[in-house]
Amino acid sequence: MSLPLVVATRQLPSNAWKRLTAYAQVVCWESDCPVMQEWLLKHISKAAGLYCLLTDRIDQDVLRMAKGLRVISTMSVGYDHIDMSACHARNIPVGHTPGIVTETTADLAFALLMAAARNIVEGVEYVRQGQWVEWKPNLLLGQDIFGATLGIVGFGRIGQAVARRAQGFQMKVLAVRSPGQDHESSESFVEGAWKQEASGIPSVTFVDLPTALLQSDFVSLHVPLTSQTHHLIGEPEFQMMKRSSILINTARGAVVDSDALYRALQQGTIGGAALDVTEPEPLPASHPLLSLQNCLVIPHLGSASTATRSRMADMAVENVIAGLRGDRLPHCVNPEVYS
Ligand code: DGY
Repeated sequence: MSLPLVVATRQLPSNAWKRLTAYAQVVCWESDCPVMQEWLLKHISKAAGLYCLLTDRIDQDVLRMAKGLRVISTMSVGYDHIDMSACHARNIPVGHTPGIVTETTADLAFALLMAAARNIVEGVEYVRQGQWVEWKPNLLLGQDIFGATLGIVGFGRIGQAVARRAQGFQMKVLAVRSPGQDHESSESFVEGAWKQEASGIPSVTFVDLPTALLQSDFVSLHVPLTSQTHHLIGEPEFQMMKRSSILINTARGAVVDSDALYRALQQGTIGGAALDVTEPEPLPASHPLLSLQNCLVIPHLGSASTATRSRMADMAVENVIAGLRGDRLPHCVNPEVYS
């Protein structure tokens, strides 16, 4: 009996590759750049499974070609790159990788917060450029993190993990419930469970978005990208923030209106921004945001630790294999396909 065909839009780590190829014949996009849509359209027509990344656009065109597709598995927790209503219409289960990325992403959000607050990148550049010739009392003065107020917008797994880190700095945390879901959760929140988990973190107060924006020294975003959160932070929101406030985004770029952010940073409406995700993504080197000293941008590294990326690939493969076998995906974004 021939093995079902899986299209993989990137090479897999060896463990994940071994597990997948025991169940399927795999055709893999070999380059380290995002898959070309023509290549995907060509190969998807015969595929039973798709292993994809957050950089792939899994849209109507792809799904129309994918006549025999039984499962889509993305090696990411976010799934805004997949046309979920088209998957629903076709009853295709979609798997993702919740949970695994939580602590790694929270680490990065906190690293960005600290780097922006204390001018770490400017400091490194200053030394590299040979400017460090004397100690100056007013050189690269930043903001205190200890005891500051942190607004966390989207209080699911990652938001809560950031709050736990903030505890160590005795920060006051203002948590804002996300419109919709957490960046990390597929299932909608069970309110009770959410409260219970959150109540394990002292110094968290639930507030609405304007209150968090008005009172926070740092605002960290942890919502998924949905129609409700697209440009959640724009001109009016920046106007509410403190002039010293620093925005941290490790969620999705389009949660923030980039043009409004540029103006807010340039005009000093807010103090700074530290972005792991951008709109557009990747951010071209000529983008105006990159000309600003108070904007720190890194290339979507939220889950980028060796261990986490390898676990993500394993989990994505588990989802593909379950789908090929006709089993329920262990981490399914759209469990309604089973009802
Ligand atoms: C995800 O998994 O969606 C993250 O953005 C990857 O870092």
